[in-house]
Amino acid sequence: MSDLQKKNAGEAAAQYVEAGMVVGLGTGSTAAWFVKALAARNLPDLRCVPTSERTADLARELGLTLSTLEDTPKIDLTVDGADEIGPGLALIKGGGAALLREKLVWEASARCICIADAAKVVPALGTFPLPIEVVAFGHKTTANRIADVLSDHDIASPARVREAERGLIRTDGGNLIYDAACKLIADPARLAADLKSLTGVVEHGLFLDLTDLAVIGTDDGFDTINP
Ligand code: 5RP
Repeated sequence: MSDLQKKNAGEAAAQYVEAGMVVGLGTGSTAAWFVKALAARNLPDLRCVPTSERTADLARELGLTLSTLEDTPKIDLTVDGADEIGPGLALIKGGGAALLREKLVWEASARCICIADAAKVVPALGTFPLPIEVVAFGHKTTANRIADVLSDHDIASPARVREAERGLIRTDGGNLIYDAACKLIADPARLAADLKSLTGVVEHGLFLDLTDLAVIGTDDGFDTINP
């Protein structure tokens, strides 16, 4: 993981933003570089829709004008990080527990750019544990159903609830996150559909067919990958 590469990716992606746009702001350390670079450009008439309270706080501090998905349901461009970038720009996201708001914003966007350091690009998805957002009510029952789905996909280990010293991690929406150590996701589309069909699962971190461009930071600049 290289902070310089994340910075280079974030700064490069800020150049894709034009005055007057509605911009989706991602969450995470790479997205934070983008938010800083965007604020530094001082473009007129931007409205920014943040994907987490953390990003909203940063954007507000930097003087960006914030909006919501309710007030600006059509987003021109979203720029966000990823935990893994696989073939066809299929992504795992949600390491920062913001996957639900992120997916809502991505799906409302005309164009989505994924930004990352080079280590995020992988030949197949699954090394990074797949985040799954689950409602707190009955979450252990939901976890058992998730385990059955994972087992159907030849994934032996059950998903583990995400916790910190102070207790279970809650998302901005008040839900819990389970992380599934898949090792290899052989069929991301089928796994995505099977997880989404479970009552109690709010969203999962597979972002498929949503990325229009990946901007990958290098030590001295950036590369781009098209789907
Ligand atoms: C947050 C995310 C982040 O984009 C992802 O975890 C990457 O984070 P970072 O840029 O800090 O490596 O999906 O929910």
